[in-house]
Formats: sequence, structure tokens, C-alpha cells
Amino acid sequence: MDNFFIENSCPALKNNKPDTCLYTYIMDSIDLGIVILGVKRREIIFKNKFASELFQEEENKLGYKALMTLLLPDYADVPTKDIIGKTNTLWHKSRLLGYTPYMISDDFIWVIIRDITERSRLESIAEAVSSMENISYIFSGIRHELGNPINSIKMTLSVLKRNLSHYSVSAVERFVDRAMTEISRVEFLLQALKNFSLFENPDIQDIEIEDFLTRFISLISSDMNQAGIKISHVLVPPAEKISADPRLLHQVILNLITNATDALLNCDNKQIMIRAEKQEGFVAIAIEDNGMGMTEEEQTNLFKPFYTTKPHGTGLGLMIALKMVTLMKGNMEVKSYKDIGTKVTVFIPEGKDYGHS
Ligand SMILES: Nc1ncnc2c1ncn2[C@@H]1O[C@H](COP(=O)(O)OP(=O)(O)OP(=O)(O)O)[C@@H](O)[C@H]1O
Ligand SMILES: [Mg+2]
Repeated sequence: MDNFFIENSCPALKNNKPDTCLYTYIMDSIDLGIVILGVKRREIIFKNKFASELFQEEENKLGYKALMTLLLPDYADVPTKDIIGKTNTLWHKSRLLGYTPYMISDDFIWVIIRDITERSRLESIAEAVSSMENISYIFSGIRHELGNPINSIKMTLSVLKRNLSHYSVSAVERFVDRAMTEISRVEFLLQALKNFSLFENPDIQDIEIEDFLTRFISLISSDMNQAGIKISHVLVPPAEKISADPRLLHQVILNLITNATDALLNCDNKQIMIRAEKQEGFVAIAIEDNGMGMTEEEQTNLFKPFYTTKPHGTGLGLMIALKMVTLMKGNMEVKSYKDIGTKVTVFIPEGKDYGHS
């Protein structure tokens, strides 16, 4: 305990004699609300600092009647044993409070109050992720996955609309094809929604990594140009084939590129480098940006569901990517340095006929 504080605020303690101000100090420094109500005289006998802060309405603190209505609305009608000693919850000013009233005598009730907003939030997140069947979890995941292609279709069509009068037929065709490709992804996701096969039954096949990356980059290159990002890729021989579900892998890399793009928002000389290299039975596909990076502390939360630092982020991108990579029997690793950049490496098993083709 902070002796300096006590000695300076409680002169009586200077002679080593605890008096009521020691108890007041304890009451005011704990993060529990304590309220003592005098029932007969209809008054608040005591309210510690935490409780005062919780039950403060604009300038005014809540009085006896308001507190009774809030905490013990049924007190007059309900037999005492039904409310005393039982824990109740209450939403008050966007905080979730858990509180338990106790009877001291017929005259006094004291109430202990905890702020359980954060605990309850964590519990609901845990509940949301504990089961893949959980409807809200599935909805957030699908919303996230549909958002990317729909945004991309919207952008493609608006560029096309703006330039319709002077684009050649072949240019128009290119834009329409791009939109159609994204629409097929939406269709695939909707199909996946029907049977959850997106998460449960990956369609693993041998993929030529060079083909895959070239096609992937051609799909996103106009978005990259627009964002002023230079994207490049390198394949370190002998990396050739990987064993993966191309649609899942596409989604994984896209989630990582989207994060890299966001991290580059306020940087100069924006660059993203994709590098594929063989490593002990796996091909390591690294996506490296020279964006804002993260501190070590920020990195500890990365794969937690709903962790986001973005105003419109859902905080599911990395978690979904990891889930998909795990389904393909791979793994993921993140290295990041604040203000320098981030490298996310996805390890995908090498193709079965690797080295024999
Ligand atoms: N390349 C990166 N550079 C810097 N920070 C990153 C990078 N990738 C992820 N992060 C941090 O990790 C957080 C979680 O990323 P994640 O992809 O899971 O969610 P999000 O991007 O915030 O939202 P969503 O992907 O659901 O739209 C981000 O909010 C960001 O703070
Ligand atoms: Mg993201």
C-alpha cells in the first residue's frame, strides 16, 4: 500500500493509529462499488468512490429513491430472501453491472457492485468462437468474406461507368471479366454458406505456385495501382508446386494483402513483396510490407477474434486466414517491427509430385 499517500491524506496515521480514514482510503481505492442504504430513514448512508462514479448522472449523483429503483426495484413486493444475497445484473450507462444486496438488519441493506462489462464481452466472444455452428460467428465470417469481392465489383463498375464513352470494346470486356471473376467468388462463398464446405471440406490439389501468384497479382494489380502500391513477387527455385485448395489460398493471401494495404495507407514508397520459397516439406509464402508495423504487444492479440485497430475492421481477417491455412495442413507466422513493416509467412505443404515433374 502506498504509505506516502495515506500519511499525507490521513494525518491520524502519522502516529500509527489507524482511524476511519484508513477504511475510507481502502473503500475508495478498491474497484468494487459499495453502497449502504438506510431503509427506514430512506437515505444513502454510504457510497464509496467507485459506486459514486458509476451512479453519477451528469452533474448529479443518484439519490436514495433512484438507487433503490435501479438496484432493488421489487424490494417492497418481493420476500426479502428472494433478493438478498442473490447476484443480479443491470445495464447502466452502457456498463454491465453485477451486484449483490445483503441485509445487515431490518434497517440496512448494503450492496456490492462489480463492473462486468469487459468480462461479459470476453465471455460472449469465447462463446461465439467455441462452436462453428454458432450463427452470429458464421454471419460475421461470411460478411467479412463477401465484403472484399463486393467492394471490388463496385470499384470496377464505377471506373467502367466513368469511362464508358471512351473505352474500347476490349477494355470494357476486361472490366466486365474482372467483375465476373469477383461475382464467381461471391457465388462460391454463397455455395459454401449452404453447406459450410468452405471451412470443412477443403478441395486440396497440386497447384503451380508461379501460375497461382501471377494470376492472383493480375487480379489485384489495378487496385494496387490505385492505392499507389508497388507489388512484386519472386519465386525462389526449386519451389514449384504446393498442395492446397486454390480458393482458400486465394482468400488467405487476399486477407493478408488487404492488411498490408491498410498498413501502408499513410506511408511513402509503398511496397508489397510476395516471396515463395521451399522450406522442409513446405513452401513458405511470405507477404511483406513496409507499412506501419506493430509493437510486440500489439502482435500478441493478432489472431484473437474481433481484435482490430481499424474503425471499420471486423478483426476476423487473420483468424479466418489461420483457420483456412490450418485446414490445408499449413501454418502461419508473423514478424513485425513498429514503423518498419510486417512480414506474414504462410507455410503450405509442398505438392505431392513435387520434384518428380
Ligand atoms: N500487415 C500489417 N501491418 C500492421 N498491422 C497489421 C497488419 N496485419 C494485421 N495488422 C493488425 O492486426 C489487426 C487484426 O487484423 P485482422 O486482419 O484480423 O483484422 P482487421 O484487418 O482489423 O479487420 P478485417 O480483416 O476483419 O477487416 C489489424 O487491425 C491491425 O492492427
Ligand atoms: Mg484484415
